[in-house]
Amino acid sequence: MRRLVVVSNRVADPECNSTAGGLSVCILDALRKSGGLWFGWNGEIVPRDEEVTVTCTRLESLTLATMPLSARDYQEYYLGFCNATLWPAHHYRLDLVRFTQECAQGYRRVNDRFAETLAPLLKQRDLVWVHDYHLIPLGTCLRARGVDNAIGFFLHIPFPSPEVLVAMPEHEWLACSLFAYDLVGFQTSIDKENFCRFICEYMGGKMISQDTIDLAGKSLTVSVFPVGIDVDYIMTMSQSPEAEMRIQRLHRSGETRINIIGVDRLDYSKGLPERLRAFRRFLELFPRHQKAVTLMQIAPPTREDVQAYMDIRYELEALSGEINGEFGDFDWTPVRYIHRSVARETLASLYRGSRVCLVTPLRDGMNLVAKEYVAAQDVDDPGVLVLSRFAGAAEDLEEALIVNPYDTDEVAEAIERAIIMPAEERMERHRALMARVRSRDGRNWAESFLGALIASKFRKGRAIEYLRTPQTPQHPAHIAHRLGSLRASGRISLDSGLKNSNISPPQGSSRKRGSEGPSRKRLTAILAPEQKPKC
Ligand code: ADP
Ligand code: F6P
Repeated sequence: MRRLVVVSNRVADPECNSTAGGLSVCILDALRKSGGLWFGWNGEIVPRDEEVTVTCTRLESLTLATMPLSARDYQEYYLGFCNATLWPAHHYRLDLVRFTQECAQGYRRVNDRFAETLAPLLKQRDLVWVHDYHLIPLGTCLRARGVDNAIGFFLHIPFPSPEVLVAMPEHEWLACSLFAYDLVGFQTSIDKENFCRFICEYMGGKMISQDTIDLAGKSLTVSVFPVGIDVDYIMTMSQSPEAEMRIQRLHRSGETRINIIGVDRLDYSKGLPERLRAFRRFLELFPRHQKAVTLMQIAPPTREDVQAYMDIRYELEALSGEINGEFGDFDWTPVRYIHRSVARETLASLYRGSRVCLVTPLRDGMNLVAKEYVAAQDVDDPGVLVLSRFAGAAEDLEEALIVNPYDTDEVAEAIERAIIMPAEERMERHRALMARVRSRDGRNWAESFLGALIASKFRKGRAIEYLRTPQTPQHPAHIAHRLGSLRASGRISLDSGLKNSNISPPQGSSRKRGSEGPSRKRLTAILAPEQKPKC
């Protein structure tokens, strides 16, 4: 069996049961089952670059290889390029994008350091699975060190529409560096389309099949793998005797029977101020529910050293204070705001004890909270999920009450609808949602990604063999691939190549109007794996 090597910026502590963040949760679930190596940052910061050394820890079949970030890397790579440039741009918040050359350099440097440290730990048949926006160029950095393993990349956050992406400095280089991987996975079909549209319309690439995209002779498999959860784990936790006790306590202490819950890292992409405003509007529009409903918002701190995160914290605190001051009474606090992480068991029981869950991000890659809430419900008396159309989960979870989080009145009305929804309708919706959450669970996500990674590496291997063997039968796909390579090397032009073959021009090859696209020299420089990246 091949060993699985997972690489992500942050490596969670498997023994800590309150880690907030979808990536850690789903990787831990996947690795607990398969075992393997998990490589990345241990969350610590050391003063100087020279102090960055790797530590290996074994936990049953799982090895953690972790290292700290230096203070400079933390500033430039993590706070800077990752969370002040990439994160806001990918979440359509160009107003919050901050960019400096130093931070971009820091990003390249840390990716290069990750590759340098990881490469000697790899064995020949390892499957390498790189995660998220922190490590987009890691594939290129590994290839530059001669790593020939199957390497896949999964993007947990949205891939923005090309019109937004082009406003982000460094976007061309970054998007093209994904071609170093054998497989790139996205959360939703919209993310995949956005990436393919960017490569085809702005970079002169083209689709050669539904899941294969070509750029200057380099082909890449791109596909959709929606992240899922460990359904049985959540179900079991939400039905334990301890969970039952917590639910009783929640209802006793709440002076009210109806609890609405929100669980999100305190991130501006989660639409928390908009959510609170919608809750306030709900109280205004439907005063009969006052005192009968409480909103419990659990929002653990995250990335607190980034200015935009400090701002959102003040805004949320002020808003919850305002609502409580305006509507609250001696026997009722409308908003209960909890600013810390809680154990997953506790979360599961709070989900089960809540009639409504508000998942209303302004943009979100997937949103696991939506799926966890569904899995934790009592099938005979389930709650209702109110879900933003801009969460990746909405592509699948159609039976939720789908809302536009920017539309305060619409969300307010959805809250009322969820509260008064008859049991029969709740059960019907829940049955359908549960079937979807189950059919695309965490195991399915990991297995389908890794299966596709092996298949795409195998296909690539075969194609390379073919190119080295002149007598191979002339299958159209092979010819197309070969033409791509010849074109890339400048030995054939697209038109003359196609005129001499029976292949019709692939779809989506037209370049964006007004865009010259990068020159061939630049593209070759961006894509060449042999070249050592300027990190
Ligand atoms: P993101 O990855 O952007 O944080 P997701 O909704 O996909 O968003 O994942 C969040 C994960 O973090 C979920 O598994 C959720 O249960 C967990 N989580 C969120 N808030 C808390 C909290 N306060 N304490 C513990 N875990 C949390
Ligand atoms: O996908 C969302 C994400 O960026 C994950 O990578 C991570 O689990 C989570 O947010 C928490 O972010 P950070 O590692 O920056 O604390």
